[in-house]
Amino acid sequence: MTDFSSLNNADILVTGHTGFTGSWVCHALKSLGARVHGLALPTATNPAMFTLTEVEGLLESHILGDIGDAALVLETVQRLQPRAILHLAAQPLVLDSYADPVGTFRTNVLGTLHVLEAARLTPSVQGIVAITTDKVYANDGLGLSFTEHAPLGGHDPYAASKAAAEMAIMGYRASLPSWQRAMVIEAARGGNIIGGGDWSAHRLIPDYARAIASGQPLSIRFPHATRPWQHVLSLVHGYFILLERILSGTATGTGEAWNFGPELDDCISVEAMLHRLGTYWHAIETPREPSLLHEAKTLSIDSTKAKQRLGWQSCMSLDEALSATAGWYQTALRNPENLTKLTQNQIAAYFARL
Ligand SMILES: NC(=O)c1ccc[n+]([C@@H]2O[C@H](COP(=O)([O-])OP(=O)(O)OC[C@H]3O[C@@H](n4cnc5c(N)ncnc54)[C@H](O)[C@@H]3O)[C@@H](O)[C@H]2O)c1
Repeated sequence: MTDFSSLNNADILVTGHTGFTGSWVCHALKSLGARVHGLALPTATNPAMFTLTEVEGLLESHILGDIGDAALVLETVQRLQPRAILHLAAQPLVLDSYADPVGTFRTNVLGTLHVLEAARLTPSVQGIVAITTDKVYANDGLGLSFTEHAPLGGHDPYAASKAAAEMAIMGYRASLPSWQRAMVIEAARGGNIIGGGDWSAHRLIPDYARAIASGQPLSIRFPHATRPWQHVLSLVHGYFILLERILSGTATGTGEAWNFGPELDDCISVEAMLHRLGTYWHAIETPREPSLLHEAKTLSIDSTKAKQRLGWQSCMSLDEALSATAGWYQTALRNPENLTKLTQNQIAAYFARL
């Protein structure tokens, strides 16, 4: 059993708590006894997991604001005095990053810098877990799994902004001794997240849910693209190991980058994923839609370091993740009043396996 006892009663600031991952994080942190504070923009989708699963009621503070506003981020962190920050807030959509590249860089790079700087100036903060992505790697298309030492890159504004955020993190981490500031800055790189409660545009599972609800076919741009699919709770598990190490004082040095990806068997094509999803939900028509946008053909990350040094291992296979995800959306369509309980049950079932 992984020990998360340091999270009990700890004040944790979650940026991006109104989003899909953020909502799962708030429920899971609360289940471990943490005092959870949130800073994010208002929910961007309707429906939204944040409202459907009553996340606001779990929070010590619910602050709506833009991480692009340095003064607001500093004032928030100094007022709340958190012991750790889980930084999720981002513009996370590749297609939206083509439409608004500057806004994407502003939120993902400048926003991350504002969080780093506020933490540096607030002595209560023992560390930050900053969430980036598997897309930070320069993808040469050869199909190899990237280790944490692989060069960073980015073929679209989203990926490049997250790689640039990683550079900012590295610069801050390396400068901590010059500032005589003891703090840990971890970067967590995860794969394609699935799970109930995501209603973002242009993502496979929410698009699938919308297609089922509307009875329309689902157009697919890149059916042969292979992706590292994993349940949101597998990643939350990894983030919490990093938080626990920060709070218990057992993190090494000033922090580093960690991959949290699925097993290679669970890195499958979009087409194969849709086929498997159909067995847990129901099959729908998926015509192909041509696209001029760049999309990497393969993407997988090597999580050996997290397994060996953190003892992290995903406790959910892809089939279990698909079954839990389909069950969540089916409940959302038929009995939305049961979603808070279902979310809590899925979290309890995951953590009971550790
Ligand atoms: N979903 C995935 O497949 C995936 C994969 C790898 C990494 N990630 C990363 O995980 C994190 C969470 O992603 P998600 O899928 O839950 O996204 P989401 O869109 O559901 O949530 C994003 C959150 O960030 C907040 N936010 C956005 N811009 C902001 C701003 N300017 N100021 C304050 N808050 C702002 C939103 O309000 C929301 O709470 C992101 O950093 C994303 O890059 C996601």
